[in-house]
Amino acid sequence: MKHLLDTRELSREEAIDILDTADYMRQVGLREIKKLPALQGRTVVNLFFEDSTRTRLSFEAAEKRLSADIINFSAKGSSVSKGESLKDTAQTLAAINADAIVIRHGASGAPQRLAEAGWIDAPILNAGDGTHAHPTQALLDAMTLRQFQEQSKGIETRGAALDGMRVAIVGDILHSRVARSNLWLLHTLGAEVVFVAPPTLLPVGIEDWPCEVFYNLDEALETNIDAVMLLRIQKERMHAAFFPSAEEYTRLWGLTPERFALLDSSEQETAVLHPGPMNRGLEISSQAADSERSWVLRQVNNGVSVRMAVLYMLMTGGTSRDFYSHS
Ligand code: CP
Repeated sequence: MKHLLDTRELSREEAIDILDTADYMRQVGLREIKKLPALQGRTVVNLFFEDSTRTRLSFEAAEKRLSADIINFSAKGSSVSKGESLKDTAQTLAAINADAIVIRHGASGAPQRLAEAGWIDAPILNAGDGTHAHPTQALLDAMTLRQFQEQSKGIETRGAALDGMRVAIVGDILHSRVARSNLWLLHTLGAEVVFVAPPTLLPVGIEDWPCEVFYNLDEALETNIDAVMLLRIQKERMHAAFFPSAEEYTRLWGLTPERFALLDSSEQETAVLHPGPMNRGLEISSQAADSERSWVLRQVNNGVSVRMAVLYMLMTGGTSRDFYSHS
């Protein structure tokens, strides 16, 4: 694995290896001194052409915990605003001997271009590109689902996949890189993916993807769902009217207080996830987001561990065997 661009390219073994390494990194995060010397003397550039809170902060925390030197770059305030191209930006980073590039970009395919164009010879880590992919988000979601699986079914996390788990992903599938990256990773790990959305927020060709599709959230939730992930309504990517009104969307596809109360009283133990940032009161109610069934903050916490794992593995060639002699 030279780069991390898309979960679609990960084998089941590679995905489990990343999750096992992330489990070890999580233990490091619980120590008083939360640091490993693994990337001492290496420079990681965080290249953010699009806004971010969770991904950016957790990549930075991960790099610091691995003792890397960090250069933070955001398009705002850089020469990109004067018209500098991705190529010239990449060549500038090569000239300052960057050892890895973390990139978030509004254009689908920008990290792939950086990886394949030969402008810079360093691992490229996709931190979210357009509507295409967000692989570290899907990995941290899978790590969270393994923890939920351990809590609800007693399946030890290390070495585990997600075989048979039913995961409903609800909302703006059309614009969601999180939905796409989760689909491929969850499918690789043996989970069943259920997409729930209004027809206008589903992509063309979805019938060829390995998922079930529901237009009705209540019907979907009656099908033994283990985890429900609400997606953010991405107003910034919506240039048309995809549903009549926010109220109508919430009533039909939101995890409202009423729908959550029904879920909460069910015998089926169901985890609530959201990649963030949340539109409270639109796709998710505060009752659901702040409940004991919510794994939202665990997702954020796992983000640091997963990002430590992928940085460690891509930059050193390490695997989980470096930490667990029996794996
Ligand atoms: N989930 C996620 O990517 O959040 P940010 O946009 O805050 O990084």
